[in-house]
Amino acid sequence: MDSFSRWFCILVVVADLLAITYFGGMFFITGSLLPKHEEAHIVVAGAEDPNAHKSTVSAPKPDPDVLPEGFVADAARGATISAKCKACHSFDADGKHRIGPKMWDIFGKQIASYDEFSYSSAFYDKQGEIVWDEEALYQYLKNPKAYIPGTKMAFPGLKKAADRANLIAYLKTLQ
Ligand code: HEC
Repeated sequence: MDSFSRWFCILVVVADLLAITYFGGMFFITGSLLPKHEEAHIVVAGAEDPNAHKSTVSAPKPDPDVLPEGFVADAARGATISAKCKACHSFDADGKHRIGPKMWDIFGKQIASYDEFSYSSAFYDKQGEIVWDEEALYQYLKNPKAYIPGTKMAFPGLKKAADRANLIAYLKTLQ
């Protein structure tokens, strides 16, 4: 090998080393930044429940916001749930307005129908638009502040569809 070839060989080796360092470094950086996210996701998904996929297929978890198939509303259960409302509402035939208006005979009434009760302006704004039928009560009781923004009814809502349906069945009996 003449001296030119020797130098040329050394040059090639040095260039190779530089290339390996450069691309290796790139791989290291991207390898540690990009796929990490995906990897973490897979680990978390598997860690939650190894049978998650299987159980979803064989027995889907019921959505509490959807009435189960064949559901029949139960006024007696609704009466139990009304305990959550009693801090503010009366439910008896001779009940009085309290923090909220009385609930006796509320089903089918127009919104804000009691002259002697002082409602929020949000309620007065909805006058003529809302009748307390099944649909309106169902939506209002799910999330009062979402259905009527600005309502002064300080109640977070009944998240279970079955609770709302049972309570409405109970309200219907109060007449
Ligand atoms: C913290 C007190 C409070 C609780 C708890 C509460 N409410 Fe109310 N409710 C109110 C107030 C106050 C109003 C009047 C809202 C307004 O003027 O914005 C109201 C209004 C209503 C109305 C409309 C009445 C009308 O005349 O238009 C219905 C129906 C109602 N509530 C049902 C319920 C039911 C059913 C529950 C239980 C699941 C409940 N509320 C829980 C305070 C409460």
